[in-house]
Amino acid sequence: MKKLTKNNHSFKKSKKGIYKKVAVIGCGYVGLTSGICLANIGHRVICVDNDETKIKSLISGKIPIYEPGLEDLMKKVTSIKTGPRLEFSNSLEYAIKESEIIFVAVGTPSNPDGSADLSYVENVARTIALNIDEYKLVVEKSTVPVQTADWIKTTINRYKKNNIEFDVASNPEFLREGSAVKDFMFPDRIVIGVETERAKKLMLELYEPIKAEKIVVDTKSSELIKHASNSFLAMKISFINAVANVCERTGADIEKVALGMGLDKRIGRSFLNAGIGYGGSCFPKDVKAFIWISQNIGYDFGLLKEVEKVNQTQRKLFIKKIEETLWILKDKKIGVLGLAFKPDTDDIRESPAIDVIKILKEKGAKLKVYDPKAMEKFKVIFPDLEYCKNVYQVVENSDCLIFLTEWDEFKKINFKKVKQIMSQAIILDGRNMFSPEKMKKLGFVYKSIGRE
Ligand code: UGA
Repeated sequence: MKKLTKNNHSFKKSKKGIYKKVAVIGCGYVGLTSGICLANIGHRVICVDNDETKIKSLISGKIPIYEPGLEDLMKKVTSIKTGPRLEFSNSLEYAIKESEIIFVAVGTPSNPDGSADLSYVENVARTIALNIDEYKLVVEKSTVPVQTADWIKTTINRYKKNNIEFDVASNPEFLREGSAVKDFMFPDRIVIGVETERAKKLMLELYEPIKAEKIVVDTKSSELIKHASNSFLAMKISFINAVANVCERTGADIEKVALGMGLDKRIGRSFLNAGIGYGGSCFPKDVKAFIWISQNIGYDFGLLKEVEKVNQTQRKLFIKKIEETLWILKDKKIGVLGLAFKPDTDDIRESPAIDVIKILKEKGAKLKVYDPKAMEKFKVIFPDLEYCKNVYQVVENSDCLIFLTEWDEFKKINFKKVKQIMSQAIILDGRNMFSPEKMKKLGFVYKSIGRE
């Protein structure tokens, strides 16, 4: 394979002097953020991806995703005078040979049955086996099912042609899109799953510059911590959405209920925002995979099936609410604000906006849409929507305005102006962004989730 690297320095020096030689395989959200941040804390990092266009773009200083602060950090790290610490390559073999610690951050997409497709992980394990010429620590960074570390170990042993030693560790990431750099540099905890003292020592040295609690466990527990954490957070969201549905039917206010619950330290206030449900590349996939793994080992994790069901229902209930307000949707002009699965990202994977827009289109509504960052990606799935340059273009002559993502930009909207240029002053807010009282005072028919 052709090698495509930014430079070929020997990386003899590091500012902090304790650097490790690291390879990060896979330049998606997780790999790229981890690679850039590991370089930022003093390590020499080679980020690898087999997508040549992506690597070329990275070499030219552009990151292919929208992630606040990441591009600037990359520029800072690549321009450090004491010797470049970050390199990009499309040669997996080169990265393996040059590194002691190899992070595997390739995709683990869902199979149709909900299980994780681990073929990319297996492929990397085989390539490591064929190129191992001195001790390597292989670290799972992608979210993988429990026991994947064992499989990586078995695969490397099976394909390896020498007696060189290696270890496999698990080090799940807890980065959120939109605040990934901050989450990496200031994590709540760092989870390290290892089976040997050597691997433990290396991992602790690697993360030494980051001041956070480090939990060292076995690889299986570490793998489970990740799936259980994401599933628990998804459960929190579905729980509060279910409570919101009860609030709507009784006249209670979900914001007050969530506050009253969240102040109990055992429950906590975060992830209790009711809305049209969770999306993204992680929660839907990870909940599915956790259900599948449990099933596979003979345990029916019914609770998580219900979490999924509530999440799907939330989108349908929102459509029902629009219909209850507008009656007939055919030929109604509906303005849509927000397409990304959450603010501060251009990511639309599993975004509730996809389902909502699909159904509205099927029902014959005329849609004008706007999102600060996600429109290019949305155009690939829905090329025939009317994409607007700003909020007010969406609003103009609309019969109804719906909010699907809580971007900060929307919080600054001039609603007096909105009221003047809308055809009908009707707003349905899927993210509880505004005060119902204020909106009603301004003269809007305003409906949100779980409150009057
Ligand atoms: C999530 C986890 O929060 C990260 O810790 C984890 O590392 C990551 O998945 C992953 O596995 O890679 P992310 O998918 O970026 O991160 O997004 P979140 O900020 O967690 O939001 C997920 C979804 O839940 C969004 O659609 C958001 O709108 C929704 N959400 C979140 C709610 O509907 N209500 C809330 O109260 C919180």
